Amino acid sequence: PEKCVVAVDGPSGSGKSTVSRRLAKRVDGVYLDTGAMYRAVTWAVLQAGVDLSDPDAIAKIALETELSIGTDPAAPHFAANGTNVDEPIRGVEVTQAVSAVAAVPAVRKHLVALQQAIIAGHPRIIVEGRDIASVVAPDADLKVYLTASSAARAARRSAEDSADVKATEADLARRDKLDSTRKTDPLKLADDAIEVDTTGIGIDEVVAYVLNLLNSKV
Ligand code: C5P
Repeated sequence: PEKCVVAVDGPSGSGKSTVSRRLAKRVDGVYLDTGAMYRAVTWAVLQAGVDLSDPDAIAKIALETELSIGTDPAAPHFAANGTNVDEPIRGVEVTQAVSAVAAVPAVRKHLVALQQAIIAGHPRIIVEGRDIASVVAPDADLKVYLTASSAARAARRSAEDSADVKATEADLARRDKLDSTRKTDPLKLADDAIEVDTTGIGIDEVVAYVLNLLNSKV
């Protein structure tokens, strides 16, 4: 397609990143990882030593943090205040704290505005997150919601991080609960999104399926 905005939402470990990056390459477009934006802000909040139960202090840091957001699907690099954060944003400390930071309304408002500006600047873009279909890009050409059983999601994540499956499953359940029960823009299946259960399905098959859906829409 000449132009397309695709929203890819779903819980952690549902395959969003891999599918989104492949899709972006296939349509010769860019990839926006909004979770990495929340993670980069969380890294800055932790660096600043701010109390995670103080939303005003968190919001202040979020607004002051200068983000550099990579959108190349082959190598999406992120920096915060001039420091490359590709490694630390995947670490335990950030992963533990990110849902609390992402629940602060002023943080979301700020990052959603940045995300919308990036989307407006690219003709073909695949955007992955939790609230893309419902809040960030309600006019997206295609909205997919990826799911998978909690066991399948934990197995994928722990293989990526070489972490313990049981501990990973518990961490995913903890974040899913925080993300889907928060007041501002919770994770949910949008009315016009197409749910794709990726349990036991190979990545190539999921990508082919979503590409077909996209081609039928644009
Ligand atoms: O996708 P990823 O696991 O990197 O996202 C990290 C966290 O960022 C999520 O658990 C969620 O709290 C938050 N997030 C969000 N809205 C998005 C993307 C991520 O609240 N659009």
